[in-house]
Amino acid sequence: MTATAYGRPGTATGTGPPRSDGPAKAAGTAPYAYEYRVADPAYVAPVQATVARGRVLEVDAAEAEAVEGVIAVLTHAGAPGLDTGAELSGLQRVAELAVLQSGEVSYRGQVVAAVVAETFEAAWHAAALVTVRYEQWPHDAGFSDQRADAVAPEEDHRQGEVESAAPAEVVVEQTYATAMQHNNPMEPHTTVARFEGGELFLYESTQGSYEVRRTVAALLGMEPERVHVVAPYVGGGFGSKGPLHAPTVLAVLAAVALPGRWVKLALTRRQMFALVGYRSPTIQRVRLSAGADGRLSGVDVVATVQSSHVADFVEEAAGPAKSMYAAPNRRMGHRVVRLDAAVPTWMRAPGECPGMFGPEVAMDELAWACGLDPIEVRLRNEPERDPHTGKPFSSRNLAACLREGARRFGWADRAPEPGGRVENGWRVGMGVAASAYPVVPPPGDSWARIRYEGEGVYAVSLAAADIGTGAWTALAQVAADALGVPLERVRVRLGDSSLPEASLAGGSTGLMSWGSTIHAAAEEFRRGHGERPEPGAEATGHLPANPAQDDYAMYAYGAQFAEVRVHAATGEVRVPRLLGVFAAGRIVNARTARSQFTGGMTMGLSMALHEESVVDARFGHVVNGDFAEYHIAANADVEDVQAHWIDEEDPLVNPLGAKGIGEIGIVGTAAAVANAAYHATGVRVRSLPVRLDDFIGA
Ligand code: MOS
Repeated sequence: MTATAYGRPGTATGTGPPRSDGPAKAAGTAPYAYEYRVADPAYVAPVQATVARGRVLEVDAAEAEAVEGVIAVLTHAGAPGLDTGAELSGLQRVAELAVLQSGEVSYRGQVVAAVVAETFEAAWHAAALVTVRYEQWPHDAGFSDQRADAVAPEEDHRQGEVESAAPAEVVVEQTYATAMQHNNPMEPHTTVARFEGGELFLYESTQGSYEVRRTVAALLGMEPERVHVVAPYVGGGFGSKGPLHAPTVLAVLAAVALPGRWVKLALTRRQMFALVGYRSPTIQRVRLSAGADGRLSGVDVVATVQSSHVADFVEEAAGPAKSMYAAPNRRMGHRVVRLDAAVPTWMRAPGECPGMFGPEVAMDELAWACGLDPIEVRLRNEPERDPHTGKPFSSRNLAACLREGARRFGWADRAPEPGGRVENGWRVGMGVAASAYPVVPPPGDSWARIRYEGEGVYAVSLAAADIGTGAWTALAQVAADALGVPLERVRVRLGDSSLPEASLAGGSTGLMSWGSTIHAAAEEFRRGHGERPEPGAEATGHLPANPAQDDYAMYAYGAQFAEVRVHAATGEVRVPRLLGVFAAGRIVNARTARSQFTGGMTMGLSMALHEESVVDARFGHVVNGDFAEYHIAANADVEDVQAHWIDEEDPLVNPLGAKGIGEIGIVGTAAAVANAAYHATGVRVRSLPVRLDDFIGA
């Protein structure tokens, strides 16, 4: 596949220019938040609760304060106050952000104090010397779907009578589970802050500088314009850097407590497992009813997920089943278990990623039960319209993805029966799963400014965050196209709250919302300044509303294929091949798009085989909170991962025709792996991660 095959010939968009930030990143000169050289910084080290529920009775900081270089020990008794009644955006959980505002402990690992010191070493050493006395209260951190206190956050979505769906010649009724997972971007959550003269400056590792500005300003009771957030380079986010979490607020409190002084806080890996959210575990009860021909008469999905007594967050794992397949009788619902645990958060494709696992494995089970090809059973259930809303799809090319993937993957060569192929002691199988991710409205508003600098050069500015996706490069391409100039004439500025507001990098909306905004700005520019602008000519454009948004169901689709090898004696599981074919609208930069897709698929592989945060409910903490015990797919785990896409024209989604690609790559991957493992061995694994003990003796 060549990059240029997917773009309009003669334009910058659709080709695959290399990342403009690549050389600086490779050379280590692209500054991440912690790396800004600030004069004479102080260092913040959090002290975390060792009980899961209770109240701080006393913080004995005498020993810590005696450590040379310690400047202050912050506790709930002395920390600066926050406006905990502040109105925050819908993404933020104010109770989670009310750091050191009371002595109450709501989950183990919560920040109960912090040391600020002249050196990193002094801060961390002193933090270990802080003694906290608690009144400990009984806690409950045990997640299960057998609890009477699970509640439905909203009424179940119902159509028809799913209980009596007919025909029900074939019924698949099973329970599927996905593990709790923790976001671990390469760059941990980091804040560098200074408060001086009523202005707050932050170098922050974030998916949205304006979201940080607004939230921090509201908590401090400041004008948003007095909070400045700089984040041009971010070492991955995957969702946990969308909503704010306690460490950002802690660093801000330290800065406010030490006016004029820079303070720095970077989390350790272990702290990442307590303080910045996680993907809820899910338990999905799925019931598919079908005729003998595999046509669905009923789809019933009830997902039990975890939330927190601190504040609610619902992992919408029953959501994706709503729009996938045609069936007259349907029910999708959630049951939420609130625990003495930290608040869950976004993790790449929240809802969709875990929520496609149960239904897509169930579809595989249905296929085998009906004696049908798993691709055929999906094709037989393709809906004419969105079964959830009745709206037409703006475009839906799942079938094309399945067919193209089958062709490329060599699907026709698979063994006819599970367990039918053994090579050198390895059982070999192939699996498939479908993938979908909605075109969601962008989280926040966007503006972009275009300025003609003279000598043919244009500057394009907006506060968008490139969290490693390639936005620096792709937005320059979009701007070059919109302005009708070569790519090298465009200078992009991103990631700074002094630039025009841009929506959060979330929901795979970045390129489409920021790109559409740049299109609007280019139109404004031409309208105001014509084809021969004077140097200094400027125009600002606003994210256009999409007139088609309410009239169509809009989704990107994909088909995920996996080859799995399970060792007949040891049960070791390997995935030598993953192949995805996606239909995600227009692909602006083939190079960065491919790495989004394959990155998502790799993360899906990691979910399938490795990632699992293990909670010890007796104490309420994650016991495997480090990279030795929480395994993330490494080079040796990742073999041949291929992403392809089909040409898709969808003018209804936005002026670019782009659907968003950051998340769909992870959706469906784990189901494809589990389905392939079944094909290899005849053992059906319904709980992630898939482990070697699932196969030993089976
Ligand atoms: Mo992404 S999990 O929508 O930030």
